[in-house]
Amino acid sequence: MDDDTLIALANLAADGVHGEDEMPFLQPWTRTPAERFQQQYLQHHWGVRSRFSADAWDLDLAVRHHGELVGTQGVATRSFLATRTGETGSWLGRRFQGRGIGTVMRQTLCAFLFDHLGFEQITSSAFADNPASNQVSQKVGYRLNGVQRVPRNDTWVSSNEYLLTPDTLVRGPALTVTGAEPVRKLIGLE
Ligand SMILES: CC(C)(COP(=O)(O)OP(=O)(O)OC[C@H]1O[C@@H](n2cnc3c(N)ncnc32)[C@H](O)[C@@H]1OP(=O)(O)O)[C@@H](O)C(=O)NCCC(=O)NCCS
Repeated sequence: MDDDTLIALANLAADGVHGEDEMPFLQPWTRTPAERFQQQYLQHHWGVRSRFSADAWDLDLAVRHHGELVGTQGVATRSFLATRTGETGSWLGRRFQGRGIGTVMRQTLCAFLFDHLGFEQITSSAFADNPASNQVSQKVGYRLNGVQRVPRNDTWVSSNEYLLTPDTLVRGPALTVTGAEPVRKLIGLE
């Protein structure tokens, strides 16, 4: 994500990512007051960039559908060279949800991580009251790997923990990949 894309994503997220009475994220960043929303979104991503290292890196990618910016799909890792695993996370602008884009973007990132960045497994979490996210994980081939309580709104919610391995990935459309070599160097694979 370059800065122009980040600004466009901040504006897209400010238009709404979920219903007012819902909170699909562990870190409730979508509740940031409107007057600080875009600034905080940018500062978060600049922070992610500035902390990028082979020991702890996040790769957050912009998602475009027929050229239109629709949301993000990313993966967060710690000690990747040792563990070869990472946790996926995503969101789409509300008007782009429920059209199958979330499934294809997850299939795309997971295939890229397994085929080009040396991942051996991928995890994801979805709150029990987020059917779309749970459904996407299951459709893409993740298996349930436990359930835990996590704090939300001064109480708790069940979080379904999912695990994906290359043999269970349900692949989407064939990928065309460019620019993977510099990323492999950055994360210490070469
Ligand atoms: C989660 C998210 C990325 C999924 O993307 P999406 O494009 O909406 O998902 P898709 O259209 O590819 O698939 C959603 C699936 O969930 C199902 N689904 C959605 N709402 C549902 C509901 N209330 N009950 C049952 N199933 C539901 C859909 O039917 C679909 O399954 P199907 O293709 O088998 O019919 C998107 O909805 C989103 O950004 N949500 C808000 C942010 C969020 O929750 N992020 C993830 C945090 S863990």
